[in-house]
Amino acid sequence: MGSTAEHHESKIRTVDWVDDAVLLVDQTVLPQRVEMLRIDRVADLVAAIVRLSVRGAPALGVAGAYGVALAASQHGPTADREAFDGAVESIRTARPTAVNLALMVDRVTPVAVAGGFEAALAEADRIRDEELAASVAMGDAGADLVAELVAGAGARAGGADAEPANIRAMTICNTGGLATVERGTALAVIQTLHERGRLAEALPVETRPLLQGGRLTTWELRRMGAPHRLLVDSAAPFLLARGQADVVLIGADRVAGNGDTANKIGSFGLALGAAHAGVPFIVVAPETTIDLQTLTGADIEIEDRDGDEVTGVRGIAIAPEGTEAVNPAFDVTPVGLITALVTDRRVVRFDRGETL
Ligand code: MRU
Repeated sequence: MGSTAEHHESKIRTVDWVDDAVLLVDQTVLPQRVEMLRIDRVADLVAAIVRLSVRGAPALGVAGAYGVALAASQHGPTADREAFDGAVESIRTARPTAVNLALMVDRVTPVAVAGGFEAALAEADRIRDEELAASVAMGDAGADLVAELVAGAGARAGGADAEPANIRAMTICNTGGLATVERGTALAVIQTLHERGRLAEALPVETRPLLQGGRLTTWELRRMGAPHRLLVDSAAPFLLARGQADVVLIGADRVAGNGDTANKIGSFGLALGAAHAGVPFIVVAPETTIDLQTLTGADIEIEDRDGDEVTGVRGIAIAPEGTEAVNPAFDVTPVGLITALVTDRRVVRFDRGETL
């Protein structure tokens, strides 16, 4: 594994295959530094996934797909089947809630077994390209829906302008290019609204404990030149109640068959705040994040992470030594609190009784 400092002014691919290795943006050092990780061993990829150097459900799916190609090149699925299977399983289970990881590992594994490294790599490239296209589609469909749902607010506040930049969009965690390959899910919608001249401001919550909103989403919003203000997680329901946001847009790590949605811890609280305020609450996720095998949110495995992430911030202790902490990485928002799910292929209006 290698690490190089690079400065990018244009597009960054969060995860890709370059020169016989997986190339990742190391998200643990953003926004202070933009560094790429070059990973050519499965164990290093698993470690990178666990420490969140690569994160976000769709990006994990692509990383997992390339991981299988890596396992095929390292072990050769037919030469050392046991080592290959063990390597694949270690990638597949590195993070349990984001369904894309296991799904994409399961898609590439039989291809690797049948056709070896080259076939696995070609399949992983296809998955990367599908994610790229999905982000564009979700951005467009989501921006259309938000414009429709917030049209009333435009008429109230906007006066003569047909399409004023009047949309204030709250969001959590990081759902941008860093969480996919480029552009993202919920943040792709915000980016599209901005490109269409409709965004008044984005309101990312900082997203304790690992601050994906404060560190990563602000970094992406700045790069896209979109107006934004950061808030602490606990301010979100109050801002919603005070009428300071028109829509809440979140991503998803797993959408159960009934529409219940697992996403970053704090999403459920945003949904409750949005319902209280009568603000649309929209989930944006590719079809690959829908898991029909999981019937309801109660069946979704939630990743519990190390308490150190709560008792400290970026290596600085904020609680007395020995303080115990509870640290679920995700929560589940019941479908009854979700206005709509926007995927790369459809819009499901749960508020109108539509189902998956
Ligand atoms: O723990 P993380 O940073 O991997 O959590 C990510 C999220 O919760 C995202 O909202 C989700 O994966 C959707 S990403 C487009």
